[in-house]
Amino acid sequence: MTAVAPIVQLAGLRLDRGGRTVLEGIDLVVPRGSITAVLGPSGSGKSTLLAALTGELAPAAGTVEVLGAPLPRSQRALLERRKGIGVLLQGNGLLTDLTAAENIALPLRAHTRLPPPVIRRLVGMKLHAVGLRTAADLYPRELSGGMARRVALARALALDPPLMLYDEPLTGLDPIAAGVIMSLIARLNASLGLTSLIVSHHVRETLPVADRALVIANGRIVFSGTPDALQASPDPLLRQFLRGEPDGPIAFDAAARTEAA
Ligand SMILES: Nc1ncnc2c1ncn2[C@@H]1O[C@H](COP(=O)(O)OP(=O)(O)OP(=O)(O)O)[C@@H](O)[C@H]1O
Ligand SMILES: [Mg+2]
Repeated sequence: MTAVAPIVQLAGLRLDRGGRTVLEGIDLVVPRGSITAVLGPSGSGKSTLLAALTGELAPAAGTVEVLGAPLPRSQRALLERRKGIGVLLQGNGLLTDLTAAENIALPLRAHTRLPPPVIRRLVGMKLHAVGLRTAADLYPRELSGGMARRVALARALALDPPLMLYDEPLTGLDPIAAGVIMSLIARLNASLGLTSLIVSHHVRETLPVADRALVIANGRIVFSGTPDALQASPDPLLRQFLRGEPDGPIAFDAAARTEAA
């Protein structure tokens, strides 16, 4: 048996944006097969952290290892590594003049040389995986918000990436659609043997499917552990965050944070 490298490993990571340090001292190991909830107030740096994992944002200091090796520097090698990372962004990003099936086929057309009948089959399987087999020929405008999110999820899965990054996957969905998406994310993680990071401010919907939780605030990781340990924590900062209270140890605007630092 050989030791399997963690799918994500961050050490001493510092991330700057617009000349300002957003996150620093970030150490994180994400085990394969896990679902990690990444929580924290707006502007705390959750999306910035995901940008570092895809290599979209280069670290100001420290190291980023994804899928068992440091992110490559060359653009070409980075694009190759990114095929192993499925990303679902808040806006869905579906092309409006393509059908659901055509949207899902895009990454397969761009990154493989598979013949059209094989691509059609794979697209059918992805649609099936998200429970939308009958929606193949619908255009994005004909889909409900929840269906469109599922098509975007199928497209993120098109190349069978072992690592999935979700940025606010529940935004704009009603509670029922949100529940469907969250359980789909959990089901796919288990059935396809994926590893998932879910950035979300929907604490109540996200924690139940997560094995681990991270809370980011004030420029660092302020909690890393199980959802149960998070819920039970007496830390005033975590209590403030979990209860959604505006006043407390979390400085809610960046200016206040800079002054306090
Ligand atoms: N492209 C950018 N240029 C400069 N500053 C940026 C850029 N993107 C983000 N920031 C700043 O970095 C900080 C963290 O932003 P980020 O988008 O990572 O927060 P977040 O936790 O994802 O917030 P939200 O929950 O609102 O999505 C914020 O202060 C933001 O203004
Ligand atoms: Mg964000």
